Amino acid sequence: MKNYNIALMPGDGTGPEVLDEGVKVLDAVCAKFGVKMNYTSYDFGGERYMKTGETLPDSGVEELKKHDAIFLGAIGHPDVKPGILELGILLKLRFALDQYINLRPVKLYPNVETPLKDKGPEHIDFVVVRENSGGIYTGMGGATMVGTQNEIATQVMCYSRPVVERCIRYAYDLTRKRNKKNLLTLVHKCNVLTNVGDLWVRTHQEVGDADYKDIKQDYNHVDACTMWMVKSPEFYDVIVTSNLFGDIITDLGAMIQGGMGIAAGGNINPEGVSMFEPIGGSAPKYTGQNIINPMAAICSAAMMLDTLGETEAAAVIDKAVNDALASGKIKSLSAGRMGMSTTEVGDFVVSLI
Ligand code: IPM
Ligand code: MN
Repeated sequence: MKNYNIALMPGDGTGPEVLDEGVKVLDAVCAKFGVKMNYTSYDFGGERYMKTGETLPDSGVEELKKHDAIFLGAIGHPDVKPGILELGILLKLRFALDQYINLRPVKLYPNVETPLKDKGPEHIDFVVVRENSGGIYTGMGGATMVGTQNEIATQVMCYSRPVVERCIRYAYDLTRKRNKKNLLTLVHKCNVLTNVGDLWVRTHQEVGDADYKDIKQDYNHVDACTMWMVKSPEFYDVIVTSNLFGDIITDLGAMIQGGMGIAAGGNINPEGVSMFEPIGGSAPKYTGQNIINPMAAICSAAMMLDTLGETEAAAVIDKAVNDALASGKIKSLSAGRMGMSTTEVGDFVVSLI
């Protein structure tokens, strides 16, 4: 029997509720495939920070590193100043575990309402590969004369060839694996960011020309990309982009696929320990009411299985999610308007496995 050690980080707000449903679905599919998950739960998050003043100690990172994967609910607490938990937990883990890919599928399931007029599941099915370890997120730069009339601040978008190349290679491999349009679109802003943009453009071209002749190459400026995502999302198969641009366009992506309730993400180190999370956040106002949508957590669980190599089990979850939504029994993806409780949605998906 296959065995995996999974670190659970329920976190804050509705994180624990959605994670429970993700685990429920994982357990159901694992039972079917003879896979065993050993879970260990960690309480890193806002509550713990308020009690102890500690976000994620280095010893915590070492603990988490020992697992095959990390499954996260949500980090974010209304009583903690913005930035502390994000930097201290989420970004710290991404960097410490070198989770250099942030994988964010944008897929419209049947019967899910999109704000895009005349677009259906056949138009919205692409994946954003967001570089997750470099760029502006490294915090390089500084500030001087702070608080004076002449204050100067910089935050540097820095990328090295190896960091760009490993991301682009991952994206090409994924495009090939999907085997859909076989099209990899680089999204950047090379008309203005002539140094770092040029590095991305050349790497995309050189790697593609050398090793991925079967994959078509395309390029969009990031501003144009937001336009095409709304106007013609069917253009896209796989998008690869830098950290900040990926952050921004994947919130747009989440909206066109029906909202944060269904948007899943993976912080992936293909050679190491990856972390999976619904990207919607902790939604504090819905905490404890059993009304939050757990679909994003369930889809993240599928991504976790896929990354662990349990591709069939992952596909079974994806199909169950698809069937659950296609049934029309879930009225909306928004919290409180699903016509079902959080736990009922989990049970419903399990019943389809
Ligand atoms: C995300 C979030 C994070 C990011 C924040 C919370 C640091 O917006 O996962 O997209 O900017 O990466
Ligand atoms: Mn974001």
